[in-house]
Amino acid sequence: MRSFQQIPELRTHLNALREEKLVIGFVPTMGALHDGHIALIRRAVTECDRTVVSIFVNPIQFGPGEDFDRYPRDLAQDSRICQEEGVDALFVPAVGEMFPSADGDGPAESPTRVHVPALEDILEGAARPGHLSGVTTICAKLFNIVQPRRAYFGQKDYQQLIAIQRMVADLCMPITVVPVATVREPDGLALSSRNVYLSPEERPRAVALSAALKEGERLYAAGERNADTLREAVRDVLVRAGLSAIEYIEVADPRTMVRLNHIDDEAVLLAAVRIGALRLIDNVLLGITLNQHLRRL
Ligand code: PAF
Repeated sequence: MRSFQQIPELRTHLNALREEKLVIGFVPTMGALHDGHIALIRRAVTECDRTVVSIFVNPIQFGPGEDFDRYPRDLAQDSRICQEEGVDALFVPAVGEMFPSADGDGPAESPTRVHVPALEDILEGAARPGHLSGVTTICAKLFNIVQPRRAYFGQKDYQQLIAIQRMVADLCMPITVVPVATVREPDGLALSSRNVYLSPEERPRAVALSAALKEGERLYAAGERNADTLREAVRDVLVRAGLSAIEYIEVADPRTMVRLNHIDDEAVLLAAVRIGALRLIDNVLLGITLNQHLRRL
């Protein structure tokens, strides 16, 4: 595995692969790799000739007062994982490489931003102003640098996944966005690099989020199609478990994320809660599998 910090060197390496007609797969990450990232990497390694992983804690997707400075970072361990998983190239740019304005003391900012307006003011967009355009902007930059044929994103950050798919379709980027199912702890908690923030006292309570969404899934499977009923059922489980700092519980169209009152056939059920210093998000698809989702988007 080769490791790159500079854009031109990575480009030279990848251009040579493209000349050989090799299919490049890309897994963008912020590091602190866990089994969820490993699932993305394994899928890319299986489906592509060469896999590129980027590790970049992207300052422009963190709001003021969020955890940019203390976001977990462990490059040595991440490199080991990538090497073991058969990654061809690791891209680990400094902030100044991605945002030249941040060289010296300037703040990291992109004078050009990519927006997906329909998604920016709802759910994650409403809770974290500027976050989603920070993600789409950095992904557009990374896509332009790596020029992958396929890019892999986890279902866990569902709104991010939809925003990236929207951006790629609307900007005619020749990239297939591949969604990969959420990887969970045995008790159901969705893996996240930020789970390390959970205290031993909070950790058992965190499981209520996936349990609550499972209850929504159970009701849907039993024939419930009223979105308010599903939202209330999820709320009940959360509140009973002591997770009352609920940011949202939503039933939405799985492609547009528009709020639904009634589920005709398929939906995504999403929730965000606060527990201590941590914001937990999770989602489940109702009436549609991730593969169908991929085919029909
Ligand atoms: O999901 C993440 O880790 C980040 O949002 C991403 C896609 C790497 C962009 O910084």
